[in-house]
Formats: sequence, structure tokens, C-alpha cells
Amino acid sequence: MIASECTPFAKTGGLGDMVAGLSKALENAGHDVRICIPLYASVDRARWNLKFEKNACVHMGGGEEHWVGVHAGALDGGVKVWFVEYQRFFGRRGIYDEDNREYDDNAFRFGLLSKAAMQICKDNGWIPDVIHVHDWPSAVTAALLKTWDRILSPLSHTASVLTIHNIGYQGVYHAGVMNYLGIGWEHFTTDKFEDHGRINLLKGGIHFADAITTVSPTHAKEVLTPAGGKGLAPYLNNRGADFCGILNGCDYEHWNPATDPLIPHRYTARDLTGKTICKTALQGRLGLEVDARPPVFGIVSRFAPQKGFSLLMDALPRVLNTMIVQVAVLGNGNHQTEEFFNWLSRNYPGRVGVHIGFNVELSHLIEAGSDFFLMPSRYEPCGLNQMYSLKYGTLPIVRATGGLDDTVQNYDETTGSGTGFKFWADTSAALYNTVGWANATWHDRPRHIAKLRQQAMAQDFSWKKSAARYVEVYQRAIGKHRN
Ligand code: ADP
Ligand code: GLC
Repeated sequence: MIASECTPFAKTGGLGDMVAGLSKALENAGHDVRICIPLYASVDRARWNLKFEKNACVHMGGGEEHWVGVHAGALDGGVKVWFVEYQRFFGRRGIYDEDNREYDDNAFRFGLLSKAAMQICKDNGWIPDVIHVHDWPSAVTAALLKTWDRILSPLSHTASVLTIHNIGYQGVYHAGVMNYLGIGWEHFTTDKFEDHGRINLLKGGIHFADAITTVSPTHAKEVLTPAGGKGLAPYLNNRGADFCGILNGCDYEHWNPATDPLIPHRYTARDLTGKTICKTALQGRLGLEVDARPPVFGIVSRFAPQKGFSLLMDALPRVLNTMIVQVAVLGNGNHQTEEFFNWLSRNYPGRVGVHIGFNVELSHLIEAGSDFFLMPSRYEPCGLNQMYSLKYGTLPIVRATGGLDDTVQNYDETTGSGTGFKFWADTSAALYNTVGWANATWHDRPRHIAKLRQQAMAQDFSWKKSAARYVEVYQRAIGKHRN
């Protein structure tokens, strides 16, 4: 696995959770997996007990050589992780950005990661059958395996699989990056890397990877349409059966209310007393009135337009003006969104609690202590938070898109079946009405809420099944690479 994130070492969103969860599941199924990520300044070397292994000389285009340090660690005591140390690129505060400004050399930073990972395999004589790359940061490896490393390389038999986690980020940069990556200009064509005169790293990966996946079956259909593909639909359509959607799993070793060490009291579907204690703790922590009666609506999110904040900004003040509810928010990113939530908490004291920042412990407390979880995403390739919510008996309120549609079953008022509340229209009115529906159910049909909770907590999205689907894809990719 070559990736820009891997939980718990470095994470901004679900990509890190997915890389870690899938790798562990593959290893449990008997495969030999290694992960390669950058050694960011934020990675706590002492906490994770990282050990320096050796230096590696990475050959970039134009004869440029970079010497990197290679450190090793282990994921939950299992899968081996290689960390690439290169201070000039990774010795910074952020992963992709700082103070909301993307680093302007990201193509170089992750280009170096991609080539370094391949070099580390060669130097260790550890030759994988498949290299699995994630999103644009490591997509170039798929191209390198078909060009630079196609013949007379220890990796010439290594196939590639590209997973698209988020087609909204394609890695589009100045064309000159081609030289640094060492990809010949004959590949700077519309069907491969070229995109309106610039280099599009994800697009190149889509052309060269032996197989391509995205993170839910419904999203796999969406990205084949002009609106969903964000410019890349024709190229994905070209790949036909090489492209498919596999639902992400959940790492229940870390996301399980019965065992979670990060919440004040553990609980199970049979005994939900602990959940009430978590609600009280959450209310106290975020300055909400401590009261079991109003439902708490939780949000944990990157503040990105993808997540539907324009709908929330319109709907939430109306929700708070017309319903007796509380809102608990954790997130950071877009400045305007941060300002909005700060404003909301000032205007509705005791009813809106906000923490701007990235905080793993609080993310678990919000999952455990809330009654409902809000995810009105405009698009959502998979989404992990709604799956965590289900496990914690926190009923998700989602827009029926991508992985949200695949994982949440809509409440049926006549029977009490379902696991959450869904809406379809991309409008704040639809969101407002659905929050109203959930709130009315909370007050008027508490038996149904209890039933929905049981059904939600019984859902099983563990990685085993999805990891087996990835193995099938790896096998197809290997077959394809050989031909
Ligand atoms: P995405 O990958 O698009 O951000 P997902 O729902 O797949 O969305 O995954 C989000 C992951 O990031 C979850 O594990 C969630 O708990 C975590 N997360 C998001 N924002 C924060 C935050 N501010 N603090 C802590 N964890 C966060
Ligand atoms: C992306 C998507 C999210 C998905 C995650 C892990 O960041 O936005 O929907 O769950 O990757 O695959």
C-alpha cells in the first residue's frame, strides 16, 4: 500500500482508516502486506516506537537523486509500515496543507513518496505481487510500473490497483512535474496525463492501473456519469470491467462501544446505560445544557463543501428556532464554515457545542454521546462516520448518495424498520424536514427509536468481506499485468 495517510499515524479523513483497516484484514487472511507513508513532522516517533532502518537513494526524472531515510513501525502490532523521511518535503506541520493553504509542491512531495516506496521494495528484496495505490498522491506508481519499471526491473511483474477515495481531488499541477516524476512526454496526452495543458495525476493512474476501484457500489455508478465523474467519467468508462466499487469496512477493533477506551463508559445493544452516561459527558464537555430529554445531533467532519455544509448553514438556524434539540460539532477546514459554527454556538448557548480542530478522542465521544448523526453530503464515495454511528446506536441522518445510500436503511414509520433517516433532494428544505422527522420520532415514537437503535447496532460492516473482494481484484490485476 502506498498512501498519504494511515491511521493512527497520520490522518485527515477516512482514507487513513481505510488503508489501515484493509491492510489488517488482508494480513489476517494470510497475505503479506506492507504500507509506505511519509514521515510527517506530526508522526509521533516515540509513541509508535519507530525504528530507523536505512537510507535509500530515490532516482527521480532527469537524473535527480534524493536520499531518504527509511523508518519502520507496525500497525496495531501487526502490518509493517515504512515511513519515508525527507525533511524538506515532510518536515512540516500539515499533511497536504497548512492554515487552509495547500502546499504548492504537493506533486513533488507525493511523487517522491511513490518512487521511494518502490525503491524500498527493491532495496529490501521484498517484491509484491500487487502495489495498491490510493487517490492521486500515489497514482503515479501505476504509470511507473508500466513505463520505467516495465522491463529489467525487480518490479516488472508487479501489478497495480488504484482506489479512488475522492474524485474531487485529482492532483492537477503544472505540466513540468512530468520531468520530476520521470514520465516520458509521450504520455502527456489527453487519454493519459494531460488535462487542459496541465498534468492530472489521478487521470494518469486511471489509464495505467491494472484495476481500479472506488469505495462503494453506488458511487462506482455515480462516477461513470458526467456530474459524478468530475471530468473523468469518459476515462473510467473506457476501463469497462476493470473498474468496480467495493464498500469500505469498519475497523471494529477501534470503533466499538463495547470496548472503546476513548469513551467515558462502554455499552452494548443489550445495556445502553453507558450511552446515557456518554451523552451527559458530551454535554458537559461541549458546554451544552446537561439534559437527557432533547436529542443531540452530532457532526464530525472535514469542513469541505462535499459534506453539505451549505445545506447545514441554511437549515440549522431554522432547526434551532423551531425544535428543542442540541447540536454537537467537531471539525475544521473551510474558514467560513468554522466561522459559521462559532457564530451558531454564540447565538444558541447551551444548545450548540462546537470544537474547531482535529481531535480523535472527541470524535469517539460525539459518536457515543449523540442520539443522531448528521451527514447531508453532496457526494460521499463511502463515508465511514455513518457506519461508526450505526455501531454506536447513533442514528444517521444522511443524504442518499454514494456509500451513505448503500449503508443506511431508511426508517419506515409503519413498521419501525430501518437504521436511519434518509433524504434525496440536495436542498436545505429536505435536510430541515428530515431533521424534523427524526426529532418527531424521538418525541412521539420512542419505541421506534429503541428499535432503530437495535437494528443499527446489529449492522456488520467488518472488513473481512470487503477484503476478500479486494483479493479478487488483485488477482484480476495480476492476470491482466501478465498479459
Ligand atoms: P472523509 O474521508 O471524506 O473525510 P469519512 O466519513 O470516510 O469522510 O471519514 C472521516 C474520518 O475522519 C472518520 O474517522 C472521522 O472520525 C475522522 N474525522 C473527520 N474530522 C475529524 C476531526 N475534526 N477530528 C477527529 N476526527 C475527524
Ligand atoms: C474519502 C471519501 C469518503 C471515504 C474515504 C475512505 O475521503 O470522501 O467518503 O469514506 O475516502 O475511502
